[in-house]
Amino acid sequence: MTTTSLPTTAAPTGAQDVHPLLSERWSTRAFDPEHVLDAETAARLMEAARWSPSASNTQPWRFALALRGTPEHDALFGTLMGFNTAWAAKASALVLVAAERTTPEGKDLRWADLDAGQAVAHLTVQAAADGLVVHTMGGFEVDRVREVFEVPGGVEPLVVVAVGRQGDLASLDEKSRSRELARSRAPLSELLLPLRGASA
Ligand SMILES: Cc1cc2nc3c(=O)[nH]c(=O)nc-3n(C[C@H](O)[C@H](O)[C@H](O)COP(=O)(O)O)c2cc1C
Repeated sequence: MTTTSLPTTAAPTGAQDVHPLLSERWSTRAFDPEHVLDAETAARLMEAARWSPSASNTQPWRFALALRGTPEHDALFGTLMGFNTAWAAKASALVLVAAERTTPEGKDLRWADLDAGQAVAHLTVQAAADGLVVHTMGGFEVDRVREVFEVPGGVEPLVVVAVGRQGDLASLDEKSRSRELARSRAPLSELLLPLRGASA
């Protein structure tokens, strides 16, 4: 198993007490093009996503798993937009994640996107535990996904998730490499919602 850490100069501050599976991950653009995702590991990643919690256990997530070198991969890669096409081809797999926002019976699932997001988080952490890396992408053509995959009307494609093994940062151009080393977050103090009137 390969484990990769950010250089200490880029380690996110404030994350010291968070589990390393969370604090040491980052959305790399340097995937190892030699790595092949074996069927057992791929299945474990999808199981991790499937065992995510969801509102009333509605399980509104839908997936398409596309291993590099397959027609599914070619089809899903063909939906990516802009700079994503410059690096995502080296990932061992692309996973389309969609959310069933409306059931075939017409029931709206209010938390479908949140639930699908949690499934992505589960997949991301399982991948880290397996020594793999993940980069989620919103930059893809939703209409094109609907053309090449059978996506029911009430199901909304949300993201394409690149999965693979960490590659050599030296393989990246200067701009991409500097982005790898610049993980940051707003401080928690900016994220907390005060009681109305408490700050007056
Ligand atoms: C919903 C979502 C959509 C994203 N879309 C893209 C994308 O299209 N292209 C890209 O390079 N990164 C994309 N990202 C990655 C984010 O830019 C990245 O997670 C964020 O900058 C934080 O960096 P970190 O994941 O390394 O901590 C996306 C992330 C999420 C969660």
